Amino acid sequence: MTLKVIILAAGKGSRMLADLPKVLHPLGGIPLLGHVIDTAQELNPEAVCVIYNHENTRVKDALASEEVTWVPQKEVLGTGHAVSQALPHINDDDQVLVLYGDVPLITEGTLSYLVNTTPKEGIGLLVANVADPSGLGRICRDEQNNIQRIVEHKDATPSELRIKETNTGIVSTWGGLLKRWLPSLTNDNQQKEYYLTDIVRLAVSESRSVVGIEAFSAHEIQGVNNRWQLAQLERYYQQIKAKQFSLAGVAIKDFARFDVRGRDVTIDPDVVIDVNVILSGHVHLGEGSYVGPGCCLENVTVGKNVTIDAYSAIKNTVIEDGAHIGPFTHIHDDCHIGKKAQVGNFVEMKQTSVGEESKAKHLTYLGNATIGKSVNVGAGTIICNYDGKQKWETIIKDGAFIGSNTALIAPITINEKAIVGAGSTISSDVPASALVVTRAKERVVKDWVKE
Ligand code: UD1
Ligand code: CA
Repeated sequence: MTLKVIILAAGKGSRMLADLPKVLHPLGGIPLLGHVIDTAQELNPEAVCVIYNHENTRVKDALASEEVTWVPQKEVLGTGHAVSQALPHINDDDQVLVLYGDVPLITEGTLSYLVNTTPKEGIGLLVANVADPSGLGRICRDEQNNIQRIVEHKDATPSELRIKETNTGIVSTWGGLLKRWLPSLTNDNQQKEYYLTDIVRLAVSESRSVVGIEAFSAHEIQGVNNRWQLAQLERYYQQIKAKQFSLAGVAIKDFARFDVRGRDVTIDPDVVIDVNVILSGHVHLGEGSYVGPGCCLENVTVGKNVTIDAYSAIKNTVIEDGAHIGPFTHIHDDCHIGKKAQVGNFVEMKQTSVGEESKAKHLTYLGNATIGKSVNVGAGTIICNYDGKQKWETIIKDGAFIGSNTALIAPITINEKAIVGAGSTISSDVPASALVVTRAKERVVKDWVKE
């Protein structure tokens, strides 16, 4: 059997009240449609066709790297019309699964079950019994409990509106049947749309079987129509992530205040994550490390037994084993922190590497610098890397000592074991093991106050 998946994503999503197309809104840092494509791919289908609104190429552009077939829908005339756009990509004997770009948390498990229970030459429907069915299509059954048709909320009679069994929209059937049924759909209904749901009535009229199955969890079939629904799904998604990490040995202090954004966050066992941490992009946290409250880590690789204290913002950085960062540290743009190095409060680092066991513990700016091993950078040290036009490099070699309140004017090299006296402004290279000071001579005027 060959399976082909069609994902509907051409709707405007106007209730989001957003410039961004609905299916590009992020859930856990991944576009809604990205979640659906990921799950579709887990089914190993022969092809995934995404129906997008031809006026809105932003969807296609944003997900251009996905291995899917992009199928434009020129006019948004209903779900039946949308599916028919993909028919040129479908063969008669293909099994076809229809998914929705705005129903992001559907699982591979539920879909496999639906695909496998779809009757040969019939229809498998994913249905749901819900407390509040308003707005949804209702499943109409006969006395023998066989599914007869689906009626949309807007077309339903008062007695049909009382039905709690609803259509999730997700449906599985066969290519040959769709090719016959879809061209015969009419838009003779309240919304003047070509309803995909009308294929159920057509199947029943041909005495074909229509089977309804339920999803494993209610969240799977939740669609996103507005930002509040998205916010609720976000919390649910984050809770699932927190649970997965917890069961893999990660101590998450509060799963309600934990956020992972993106597909590539890995955390070793015995890592402790305090409250309000955001991990985004490519993040790895090594065994025994601690991430304090309020830290934001984006594209960061953290070794073992690293401590990152509260409210540190770190981006595009590698931190080696045993290093200590924070609290209140800002590290960004290709930084490298060596083993057991210490970078403390109110230190900003940009495009800078710090060698093993070096320290910059307080109130410092380090930009475009290569700092060796066992270097001490005193409080208030500023690397003056920018002359108003371009950035210049600073090199501080192993064992050098930079006294507090020092300005290093790049380009400059401070050689091995050199000492820069506190309060200096240094503008030329310092030889190894030298002492350099540019401090004004101190003057004491005795009895100045009395006189
Ligand atoms: C649809 C179902 C309804 C079901 C509900 C579940 C139909 C006729 N109705 O209703 O039975 O209970 O989903 O949420 O199918 N889309 C396109 N092109 C179109 C029209 C829609 O790509 O021309 C996409 C939309 O982007 C959306 C999805 O299809 O992702 C569903 O369309 P929507 O108009 O929201 O259908 P509902 O009225 O919610
Ligand atoms: Ca909808």
